[in-house]
Amino acid sequence: MSYAKITGTGGYLPPRIVTNDELAADLATRGIETSDTWIVERTGIRQRHIADAGVTTSMLATRAAQAAIDNAGLTAQDIDLIIVATSTPDFIFPSTACLVQANLGAVGGPAFDVQAVCSGFVYALVTADALIQAGRARHAVVIGAEVFSGILDWSDRGTCVLFGDGAGAVVLSASDTPGIVGAKLNADGSQMGILCAAGSVANGHVTGDPFLRMDGQAVFKLAVHALVRSAHEVCEQAGIDLDEIDWMVPHQANIRILNFISRKLGIPDDKVIITLDKHANTSAASVPLALDVAHRDGRIRPGHLVLLQGVGGGFTWGSVLARM
Ligand code: UT7
Repeated sequence: MSYAKITGTGGYLPPRIVTNDELAADLATRGIETSDTWIVERTGIRQRHIADAGVTTSMLATRAAQAAIDNAGLTAQDIDLIIVATSTPDFIFPSTACLVQANLGAVGGPAFDVQAVCSGFVYALVTADALIQAGRARHAVVIGAEVFSGILDWSDRGTCVLFGDGAGAVVLSASDTPGIVGAKLNADGSQMGILCAAGSVANGHVTGDPFLRMDGQAVFKLAVHALVRSAHEVCEQAGIDLDEIDWMVPHQANIRILNFISRKLGIPDDKVIITLDKHANTSAASVPLALDVAHRDGRIRPGHLVLLQGVGGGFTWGSVLARM
């Protein structure tokens, strides 16, 4: 039995930045009214990165994965497990993880996708942790990657201003000392309707509605309660007090959600990593992207205890406590 530790992080954002003002001007040409003021006040988002036409999730995921592998001081040949969390895969099949494996030149180990929408990275990390602890892998790459711009209804101002594209990744390696010290995953499928893209492909046609739809207020209420409870549960399970947490790396959906959760938990604002002002909500990519930013700028250091939290469609949510 081995422990699993995060040994490298990486991120990649498509280069095109769209500010709130640029987005508002573009929407105005189609008679849709929004503003930088509304978006900043209600969400904290100031800009997002948007992939150009033809840029796919596997392309972003590969860049983030390679950065994480480099950061861990490894090569692609060392990687014996690849898990990609995404709701915007390149294809129906093969999985995005198999495409990433081929791009990296990391042949032979298992590669598969996890679908838990904005909680996907946390779900994938817990899956990789279990496989490493069971001795079935030594160096996993766990990626959250999305091209959400492709499933947005750009005539729905209630959703299209909220999301962006990007990818984040970690290398999770077998270790003699504890790394992932706690994990709690949950889902409530009865709430599927409040956040979904309920389309499918059959007989060569799209059926249903392939665009993201959200009841923002319902998601907001469920998210705050689920994540506060989840933080308490994961800490209790690991025998850790909330005040021992050095950094909170939450899913980046709305600054008001993050402030509500951190205040309820008594975690000071300066211990919460925020990237949503620059990245917007990148779904499964948001947690590993935020982790990578704070790891690379030196805030998150070896030995620090980090609370990672995801929440999103399904309805899904989860927390991981990681000792770096
Ligand atoms: O990643 C998965 C997790 N997702 C989330 O956590 C999202 C959770 N929900 C939220 O973040 C918020 O509910 C939103 C940001 C989506 C919306 O904020 P809100 O404070 O709940 O606004 P609202 O939906 O109650 O809308 C308030 C008003 C409405 O106008 P009326 O009916 O009061 O006249 C909307 O039509 O704001 C209007 N509105 C907008 N106005 C300008 C909605 N979107 C926009 C917009 N620009 N983009």
